[in-house]
Amino acid sequence: MSGHSQYKPKSNFAKWLERRLPILSFMYDSFVAYPTPKNLNYLWTFGAILSFMLVAQIITGVVLAMHYTPEVTLAFNSVENIMRDVNWGWALRYAHANGASMFFLAVYIHIFRGMYYGSYKEPRELLWILGVVIFMVMMATGFLGYVLPWGQMSFWAATVITNLFSALPWVGPSITTWLLGGYSVDNATLNRFFALHYLLPFIIVAIVALHVWALHVTGQNNPTGVEVKDLKKDTVPFTPYATMKDGFAIGVFVILYAWMTFFVPNYLGHPDNYIEANPLVTPPHIVPEWYFLPFYAILRAIPNKLLGVIALFLSILIVAALPWLDTSKVKSGTYRPLFRKFYWAFVAVSIGLGYLGSQPAEGAYLWIARLLTFYYFFHFLVILPLLGRREKPDPLPKSISEATANRGASHA
Ligand code: HEM
Repeated sequence: MSGHSQYKPKSNFAKWLERRLPILSFMYDSFVAYPTPKNLNYLWTFGAILSFMLVAQIITGVVLAMHYTPEVTLAFNSVENIMRDVNWGWALRYAHANGASMFFLAVYIHIFRGMYYGSYKEPRELLWILGVVIFMVMMATGFLGYVLPWGQMSFWAATVITNLFSALPWVGPSITTWLLGGYSVDNATLNRFFALHYLLPFIIVAIVALHVWALHVTGQNNPTGVEVKDLKKDTVPFTPYATMKDGFAIGVFVILYAWMTFFVPNYLGHPDNYIEANPLVTPPHIVPEWYFLPFYAILRAIPNKLLGVIALFLSILIVAALPWLDTSKVKSGTYRPLFRKFYWAFVAVSIGLGYLGSQPAEGAYLWIARLLTFYYFFHFLVILPLLGRREKPDPLPKSISEATANRGASHA
């Protein structure tokens, strides 16, 4: 936030504190007076939903850790003990496991919102890149957490993923041994995965703080993609407008989250993870959690292991390059008719890759996965750069207030 704070401390304590640590004026400027574009739709509530989920995951996780034992002969049973004998342990565990899914659902909506409205464009490039970093740390956290219950899928997912690094030339095998803390997934692996799974969420909190800081410097984008011109006409104060709307959206989201947790808690899980890890029995299909499936499909679509690993990492890193790959001056998809078609094609391709990641990598599945992987990169590297130069966008409104002026006029 720039400029002087409008915060006026009222109580004596607030005045005392303000002269020593102006945290109250900081909170006021960031979450009360902060100007928000007045035309934000519900897709802009997902940042708040994500913040809520991050806190929910940390709280449920810390309490779970009080009963969990990161030791290979005890880990599986300690989770069973949580489920059966710890008071409300089943609710905690289901809330944490389904919380991870809900967190990823929210982050995907948040990312695709940004892609549609061009929220990554100048001046929000760094905000976007911080988001991609958060996403990568979230993926690492999700993967590490999945190993902890020490079921069959935990063990074999850990084996497959750490093995990917062995594809790197020369240093590969040493890196895998270093990650594992030995020559195979074992006690040292489980212990360090637990340590890191506990640590990374706090790193995410720190990066989210930077993310929101960057957001408060540039201000929010909005559905028109036209920047705020007149604070009075184009914006409303964060409180009560955004706080109420975010609060309502969190409430609705929590209903879905609670329904998953209490009514279909194992729907997204794999039954094999209720079988204790056994290094001597490989499951017929090793499938990651749903939120990794599109990337898993890309990995397996490439016949060469090293190239597959490179494609996997590039498929995430390329998202960080979006501000430079999308050459259009117009931000919002609302005014880009051609972009909209390609955008939805890209959404369909991503979902298609997700489906293919859940199927065996053979026959027609494999070929379609190859085609979609090609299209995935083609979208970023060819379609977006060309589209920005060739497409004729629709006329833009001059300002947010102009775009919203006639809203509801037909009902008058
Ligand atoms: C723990 C995960 C995350 C949290 C808690 C978080 C939080 C937030 C919050 C509170 C906002 C403002 C409200 C909103 O626009 O929804 C926001 C905006 C934004 N976030 Fe995130 N975010 C997360 C992950 C990500 C990721 C993974 C990306 C992209 C790869 C991203 C990109 C953006 C962008 C571009 C904006 C500005 C949107 C706009 O103003 O149009 N965020 N985020």
